[in-house]
Amino acid sequence: MINAHTVSHVTDAATAQIAAAADAAELEQLRVRFLGKKGELTLLMKGLKDVEAEQRKELGAFLNEAKRSVEALLSERLSALTSHAQLARLEAEWIDVTLPVRGVPVAFEPGSLHPLSRVQRELEKIFISLGFEVVDGPEVESEYYNFEALNIPSTHPARDMQDTIWTAGGGLLRTQTSAIQVRALEQRTAPLRIVAPGRCFRYERMDATHEHTFYQMEGMMVDRHVTVGHLIYFMKTLLREIFGAEQKIRLRPGYFPFVEPGFELDIWFRGRWLELLPCGLVHPKVLEYGGIDPSEWQGFAFGLGLSRLVMSRYQIDDIRHLQGGDLRFLKQFA
Ligand code: DAH
Repeated sequence: MINAHTVSHVTDAATAQIAAAADAAELEQLRVRFLGKKGELTLLMKGLKDVEAEQRKELGAFLNEAKRSVEALLSERLSALTSHAQLARLEAEWIDVTLPVRGVPVAFEPGSLHPLSRVQRELEKIFISLGFEVVDGPEVESEYYNFEALNIPSTHPARDMQDTIWTAGGGLLRTQTSAIQVRALEQRTAPLRIVAPGRCFRYERMDATHEHTFYQMEGMMVDRHVTVGHLIYFMKTLLREIFGAEQKIRLRPGYFPFVEPGFELDIWFRGRWLELLPCGLVHPKVLEYGGIDPSEWQGFAFGLGLSRLVMSRYQIDDIRHLQGGDLRFLKQFA
């Protein structure tokens, strides 16, 4: 026959064991043992029917109270154990992300210039010696400088080939260093000679020769009586300096909205023609956008594919190496 004493006895046992439980699995076993279908408290509940009527009500209430308290203890202990387990895990898995990478003897090896930086600096020196100024422009550009002022209105099909990431404010990641042209004309006016190396971005299907991020070097010279002859002279001088000897070149017609006439300048490299230097005479409209009178001033411009030049110079077979950050690749240029 059950009475208050048996109920208290079971409740005390449950309380002590729940407090001592080490994990969630043990708690589950205790739940089954006390509250399961054949649990100790459940059986006591079932035994109520045999209790005398006067005592049944009081004992029933007492049993209900005991059951609720065991349930509460179980769930409290479970959340305590879980958060404790989480803290222990956080403590065990804590890492210091500011530490140097393990297994790479960073501290013992001097770094070296990336091949892109190396070639860029070399080119800058050459152009400085030719009277050019090295200028910089923003990578997040306005639609105006990247397209509009280069004679590429929003309806122009040339825009389709140069999709990029647009910012919420209507800016874009520049697709070409040509964006510097009208900026430089506005800031410096004619005559001018500038080069602008930098990163460009395009929506590309990536493969060995296409990257979403790549480097160009824009060049522009504006002066009186500038002709295609000047353009060829400067391009040949540049190539001679880079490759150390006179280079065989060819000019093909090429279409770019911001030059007229426009060319593709190819060099004969390791037994084949390599498309390296798109260029041309600055379109009168671009000069006008830059606030310069095209009847008085002319100019040439070129867009050197810096990534491509680096690849051919060092015989790199995949453009993705350049941005891959793989030390095994980079070390070869130390
Ligand atoms: N910005 C052009 C491109 O990325 C390349 C280019 C062509 C630049 C002709 C020039 C130029 O300055 O005259 O496709």
